[in-house]
Amino acid sequence: MTPAMAEKKDAIYYHELHVHEDNMAGEVHDGLSRQQKTLSPKFFYDKRGSELFDEITRLPEYYPTRTEISLLRRHVQEMAELLGTHSFLLEMGSGSSIKIRLLLEAARPSIYVPMDISREHLIASSQRLANDYPWLTIHAACVDYSRTWDVPDFGPGRYNAFFPGSSIGNFDPVSALQLLKQIRRLVGKEGGLLIGVDLEKEPGILEAAYNDAQGITASFNLNMLRHINQRLQADFEPDNFAHKAVYNSTQGRIEMHLECMKDHCVCINDKLYDFESGETIHTENSYKYSVESFHDLAAKAGFSPVRVWTDEAGLFSIHYLTAI
Ligand code: AVI
Repeated sequence: MTPAMAEKKDAIYYHELHVHEDNMAGEVHDGLSRQQKTLSPKFFYDKRGSELFDEITRLPEYYPTRTEISLLRRHVQEMAELLGTHSFLLEMGSGSSIKIRLLLEAARPSIYVPMDISREHLIASSQRLANDYPWLTIHAACVDYSRTWDVPDFGPGRYNAFFPGSSIGNFDPVSALQLLKQIRRLVGKEGGLLIGVDLEKEPGILEAAYNDAQGITASFNLNMLRHINQRLQADFEPDNFAHKAVYNSTQGRIEMHLECMKDHCVCINDKLYDFESGETIHTENSYKYSVESFHDLAAKAGFSPVRVWTDEAGLFSIHYLTAI
């Protein structure tokens, strides 16, 4: 798609790069028919789920967001120099946070391309940025990360991608590699990637971050069942389940589950699913990397490390990588 083919919405150009196919019923049925019942973490994010996630990012136990923001604040000038001025900045996510503002102000890209699956959130946050940064050209692209897509050809210039929040950790290693390869293809042979990656650490710190004392992560996990009830003909009773988050040291990931508290049956779109007390629905993985293991993964996708920033406690990392 070229910029000329984009739809102009007020101050931003809008690109619908994928027809959004909603197959929640099929995916829920597939996941609940497996030996280990599974529901995709994308079902966390209805309006309430997004609000709960915002609350998670402010919890005392949830260190990733504040650590990444403080790394950005401290090193944003150096990051901006590495990105280069007047570059084309692609963001995986929709730019609603403080993080992209810090980077836009320091790096002053000529074109900014937020990419997200949620059309409403994408347009609303892009329009807020357009109001605040009238010098910036914004091309918002609605995309589905599980598929391939191209960004507009803006002519000669350098493409950089920004992928904050350690969202890469929510993909299993095969899908994470696929997504990094997709980003490598988008930025091209002169391009770069600035990416936030949560680090391996003592399991106690990780388990506390995903089992906060106020129970916000528990509400976030259980909200998925309410979301499914609202969207499908389903009768999940959230009180029959309990939030569980454990570190799986073999896989190097936090696993979130909903543990069933009593034998019962759930009806979804006229199909019955049996639940036994003690069995779980696996709802999310959050992989943690060492600096080296992330470099190995990035190298397989065609990126070479240039610089990595970490905090004193070694909790979180931001990497700048360039195309090999
Ligand atoms: C969005 N993602 C990077 C968060 C994480 O830490 O894996 C999602 C989350 N799940 C529970 N708490 C936060």
